[in-house]
Amino acid sequence: MNLRILLVVLSCALSAVTGLVLSRHHAEPARDSAARTRPLIGLSMDTLKEERWLADRDLFTARAKELGADVTVLSANSDDARQVNDVQSLITQKVDALVIIPHDGAAMAKGVALAHEAGIPVLSYDRLITGCDLDLYITFDNVKVGELQARFIADRLPAGGKLRLVRIYGAPTDNNARLFKQGQDNILQPLISAGKIEVLHEDWAEDWRPENAKKIMNAAITKLGREFDAVLASNDGTAGGAIQALTEAGVAGKIIVTGQDADLAACQRIVNGTQTMTVYKPIKLLATQAADLAVKLAKRRPLIALSATANGSIDVPSVLLDIVAVTKDNMRETVIKDGFRAEVDVYREAR
Ligand code: GAL
Repeated sequence: MNLRILLVVLSCALSAVTGLVLSRHHAEPARDSAARTRPLIGLSMDTLKEERWLADRDLFTARAKELGADVTVLSANSDDARQVNDVQSLITQKVDALVIIPHDGAAMAKGVALAHEAGIPVLSYDRLITGCDLDLYITFDNVKVGELQARFIADRLPAGGKLRLVRIYGAPTDNNARLFKQGQDNILQPLISAGKIEVLHEDWAEDWRPENAKKIMNAAITKLGREFDAVLASNDGTAGGAIQALTEAGVAGKIIVTGQDADLAACQRIVNGTQTMTVYKPIKLLATQAADLAVKLAKRRPLIALSATANGSIDVPSVLLDIVAVTKDNMRETVIKDGFRAEVDVYREAR
């Protein structure tokens, strides 16, 4: 069988696998961009306010450069109208592919529609864009993130008693926040029904802001005094806000507190005992694999996406990456061994 026939068979097989990723929207790159020797990728970000997104940006850009592509980055500072404008200006720059980290997964369906009108494929990064025929999605197993956080608490029920829980969810605009909660509920619900866990206070932290999480924690302390055992915080930023309130109430270190992202401050809190766990998400893997996919999209090359995620319109071809729970007991074997955090930084303030 000669090569051309093999390639045709392969691309047919691949387009079947990738859910028609390429054939539907995307003719060859636009004429101007065709003149470009290096593909240009547009990266539209929700915010650069949190530690992890700075790492995502830098790791993604570095890998794309390694692959001979250029990246132009815009950050919308958690403003939906601004993020749609950002996407519009990246389209005007005739990028060959778009990578979007949506502030609001539903609001960015408009951005995907604008990109497709211009024949530009879109990769949704970490957070899902819903309600549109998105081309590709790469993220971590976000439901499992929530399950690991809740299982950590479920494994620490007080002997013979009921665990009294405060829950701090993420941004209601972020589809991930709902997936984390879904994972948490998968573990908690049976224990709540069995009367082993009671949720005494819960709320959503607007834009994942630590200060909003602190407000939620203060409201819980005002209502409950010290009569609670654990705080199920959905990421390290919100855990940090909650721990500030716990510190002011004099109970930091006495209350179980979960997190996510393995922020440096969170790793330090875990070895110091004010935070109890976090979930490490190997961002380097996410950012480099996303860059590989984005460059292939930009060059209209076949690609493999072995999973699919329903976004309310279609089953989006998806790449899902694994994660690991981190405590003071496996800090060295996980985030430090992976080079994500330096031992000297994590243990700098260790008591
Ligand atoms: C989520 C992301 C988390 C967390 C949060 C706040 O979408 O998956 O890692 O950082 O946003 O930015």
